[in-house]
Amino acid sequence: MIREITALELRPEKFIEEKVEEIRCSVGGGRAINALSGGVDSSTVTMLGHLALGERLTTVFIQNGLMRAGEAEQVTSFFRVLGVPVEVVDAREEFFAALKGVSDPEAKREAITQTFYRDVFGRLIRERGAKYLLQGTILTDVDETVAGIKRQHNVFAQLGISPQEAFGYHILEPLVQLRKDGVRKLGQALGLPKDLFQRIPFPGPALSARVIGEATPERIEMVRKATQVVERLLSGHGAFQYLAILHEDRVTGIRDGRRDFGRQIEVRCWDSVDAREAAPTRLPFGLLEQLADEIIQAVPGVVSVTYNIANKPPSTIEAV
Ligand code: XMP
Repeated sequence: MIREITALELRPEKFIEEKVEEIRCSVGGGRAINALSGGVDSSTVTMLGHLALGERLTTVFIQNGLMRAGEAEQVTSFFRVLGVPVEVVDAREEFFAALKGVSDPEAKREAITQTFYRDVFGRLIRERGAKYLLQGTILTDVDETVAGIKRQHNVFAQLGISPQEAFGYHILEPLVQLRKDGVRKLGQALGLPKDLFQRIPFPGPALSARVIGEATPERIEMVRKATQVVERLLSGHGAFQYLAILHEDRVTGIRDGRRDFGRQIEVRCWDSVDAREAAPTRLPFGLLEQLADEIIQAVPGVVSVTYNIANKPPSTIEAV
């Protein structure tokens, strides 16, 4: 049973001191690797890990082909400014090979997990002579996985899986007692710029969690383009998270006076404190219309744009 530390209870200085000590004790004189996706959790754990281990920590950004437009460049330049070197590891072919022909949501999540942990990190850990992987799992990831709602890509021990036995290395999760609001508070105390600690959440399985059905490079590119529009138009409205989803079904539309059996994009925009419950943001109708127009312009083949108006629960934040 993990003891939760609420954002209100969290004393960042004391927490940082304790976790730095714990990381140093576990890793000893050895080396560790940490995975940085650029989200709030992994950015915060990267800062914590560097404080604890300095040059003995190698930070990698896995380019899995499922990230948002310009993400690798943006994240590496943010961290360069903070004095943290980030290695970009190109694993696009491996991820798309693992996702080929897979359309069931949990099977997709499992394919991503195995490619990350067994294949890519397994190899990196061996190559670098490290024994530990440091990552930003938080309590909400654990809760939903244990409850059987979604297998979050980064949860093992709480499912009775030993990473040491399954993948050959240990996993350290210093943020596992916190939720998103607590992580933001900690990230700020660790010196992350506001653009990073206030970033909207982004899931580990990345854009593949936003493609219903098979996540092919072409379908990921469609949702990537729609995401760019959604993030540009919906930032600054105070929402917790906003995203675009590509549906599997096609619908009949009209283009240039002819029938077009086209694609559908669903927009979701959530008000939430910690992702456990969420409600759709009451966006002005004019903004919804602008979203539809710009998504149709930006993403070839789209004839329908919808806005999700259901709460979590029974909805979830991501579609997959
Ligand atoms: P759901 O879709 O379960 O998402 O309502 C709750 C929050 O978690 C994020 N999310 C993930 N984060 N690994 C992560 O690190 C995952 O596999 C994963 N799936 C969902 C989601 O973006 C939301 O903020």
